[in-house]
Amino acid sequence: MSTATLDPQAVQRLLAREQTRFAADHPRSRAAFEAGQQHYLYGAPSHWMRRWAGGFPLAVASAAGARVQCADGLDYVDFCLGDTGGMCGHGNPAVTQAVAAQLGRGATLMLPTLQAQWVGEELARRFGLPYWGFTTSASDANRALIRIARMVTGRPKVLVFDGCYHGSVEEAHVALDLQGRVVLRNGIHPNAVDHARVSAVVPFNDEAALRQALANRDVACVLAEPFMTNFGMIEPQPGFIAALREATRETGTLLVLDETHTFSSGPGGVTGRDALQPDGLVVGKAVGGGVPVGLYGVSEALAQKLWQVVPKVNPVEVRQSAHLGFGGTLAGSALQVAAVHAVLSEVLTPPAFAHMADLAQGLAEASRALIAEHGLPWCVSQLGGRLETMFTPAPPRDAAAFRRGRDDALEALLHVYFMNRGVLITPFHCMLLMCPATTAADTARYLDVLREFCGELR
Ligand SMILES: Cc1ncc(COP(=O)(O)O)c(C=O)c1O
Repeated sequence: MSTATLDPQAVQRLLAREQTRFAADHPRSRAAFEAGQQHYLYGAPSHWMRRWAGGFPLAVASAAGARVQCADGLDYVDFCLGDTGGMCGHGNPAVTQAVAAQLGRGATLMLPTLQAQWVGEELARRFGLPYWGFTTSASDANRALIRIARMVTGRPKVLVFDGCYHGSVEEAHVALDLQGRVVLRNGIHPNAVDHARVSAVVPFNDEAALRQALANRDVACVLAEPFMTNFGMIEPQPGFIAALREATRETGTLLVLDETHTFSSGPGGVTGRDALQPDGLVVGKAVGGGVPVGLYGVSEALAQKLWQVVPKVNPVEVRQSAHLGFGGTLAGSALQVAAVHAVLSEVLTPPAFAHMADLAQGLAEASRALIAEHGLPWCVSQLGGRLETMFTPAPPRDAAAFRRGRDDALEALLHVYFMNRGVLITPFHCMLLMCPATTAADTARYLDVLREFCGELR
């Protein structure tokens, strides 16, 4: 049986059945979303929240560790974890205590606290980059590094890989269509940006296309995840990341690795794990334990170049001189620093990552076995504490291969089916994330539902 031979009408029928059940089981959540239409543009505080497959999002009553309870009193195992922002586990005691204490001592001061010293040292130790800056989101951190890259290279373009997502980064809102032409990703509005002038996009794992795109020497930086996580999960082929590093160096292009999601791979992300040497690195979401934080790190060489453009001199002499050109009044706040301190020192520690990776590996292996047992041509990709089910027979090597297996109705069905049986999966794709509080009982619940789901599809 191939996914293509699953009867689309049967999938639609099952989807309708599951959505009806979801609506019947969640009257309070549904009413909350209906009421939300009056004062929120898209019914909820964030437009992303409307994208859950039940037709409306759950209204949450409380969350603890890897568990969520909705306003209708139902319990869920949460593998979405705030699309990574909750990777520390909800209400983590260490983060809660540190953040509450700092709130009481002063949250945001435009002044550093003494804790900043240890946090800087720990970031350098984990990711191998010596200098760091705070922002309030990973999007902001990406934009900061893009700006720095343009400042030091004088070049206009940012190169990204087809299928990427890097947050609200205009240059990255591009993709390749089925004919390989550059288009706006998901038909997103162009926002008066001339993408042909500022963006380049090539398939992941395609060294020849990458080298050709860099040959013009008009690309300021490549912005890339070292393992793509936002269009399925696409693993780099052996040697591809080394070739990316070599090609960027040869053409004077900076390499920025966005580890916002790939932080799941271990304490220093893929960069720390594989001793990669990017010029810039971004991490966000999970690292703040729920407090909005983005972080960008730069290499010694990049810092030296930056200081030639914006000098590092006695600030008293230059109080009114040029700044870096990006905002962030609350960036680097005492509250953020306290949160990151707690996360790095007490929560996302090497043993916690090992626990998450063990669970995810076991879950990936058991999922593959179940999928095979039911003759479904799907695959599962895993990176540390994160895994993803994809409707392709083999792991895709680029976004085009993933696109070929994409089945929106089947994906929606999977999501609502699992929600109806007490399991939350990240709404934008079929990703499962572990946190330090996730247990074997939680992954067993997922597997029980997967068994039922596969059986029903047959
Ligand atoms: C790889 C990557 N970078 C950056 C971002 C943007 O993060 P934020 O929404 O916190 O700005 C995301 C969000 O999903 C992401 O997946």
